[in-house]
Amino acid sequence: MGDVYERLIERWSLEEDGDPLHPGVVFGDDSRTILEIGCGRGDLAVSYAVTHPRHALMAIDVHTRGIANILAGVETHELANVRVIEGDAQVFVRRLPSCSIDEIWVFFPDPWPKVRHRNRRLLRHDLIATLTEPLKVGGVLRLATDIADYARTAADAVASSGRFSDPTLGRPDWRIETVFERRGVREGRDAIDLAWTRVEGP
Ligand SMILES: C[S@@+](CC[C@H](N)C(=O)[O-])C[C@H]1O[C@@H](n2cnc3c(N)ncnc32)[C@H](O)[C@@H]1O
Repeated sequence: MGDVYERLIERWSLEEDGDPLHPGVVFGDDSRTILEIGCGRGDLAVSYAVTHPRHALMAIDVHTRGIANILAGVETHELANVRVIEGDAQVFVRRLPSCSIDEIWVFFPDPWPKVRHRNRRLLRHDLIATLTEPLKVGGVLRLATDIADYARTAADAVASSGRFSDPTLGRPDWRIETVFERRGVREGRDAIDLAWTRVEGP
C-alpha cells in the first residue's frame, strides 16, 4: 500500500480544506461531476471511473487504506477522471461552490444503530443542507443502506430540508456490490437504494 500511496497521492489528491475549488477547474472541463462520501475501499469509485470515462469522480474517506486502493486503480487503469480526498466530507464540501456538482453518493454510511449515536449519522437533519450545498438544481443525492431505520431517518431529514423531490427507489445498475454490502447480505440485510433530485429551494 505504502508505495503506490507515496508515489501517487500528491498527483491525484485534493486537500480536504482550503480555498474554493471549482470541479471544472480541477478536471479541466464540464464533465458530469460526482462526490462519493465515505468511499471505503474505493472499489466502486474505480469501477465507475473505468466505465464512465467522461464523468469526473471525487472520492473521500478518512481512511488511508481505501485512498491507496483507489490510487492503485488509477495506475492500473490509467484513469484521469478521479481525485481522492483523505479527510472529512463535512470539511471538504465547504470548498465546493454552491451548485457546482451533479451527484453526491452516500453508500453504506456508518449505521450508528444506537439511538444515542444517531446524531453521528451523515444524513441527518442538521447536516443535510451543508452536505448538499454543492449540488446543482437537478443534481442527485443517492443513498444506499441496509439499515431500514437509517433509510427512514435520512428520508425525513432530506424531506425537511425542503430542497429535494420525493425519493425514487432502485439500485443503479453501475453500483457494484462492495465488501460492506456483501457482509450485510450474508447477515440477511438487503440494500435500500434511494435517490432525491435537488429542486429550487433554500
Ligand atoms: C460502512 S463504510 C462503507 C464504505 C463504502 N461506501 C462501501 O459501501 O463499502 C463507511 C465509510 O464512511 C467513511 N466516513 C464516515 N464518516 C465520514 C466523513 N465525515 N467523511 C469521509 N468519510 C467518512 C468511513 O471511514 C467508512 O470508510
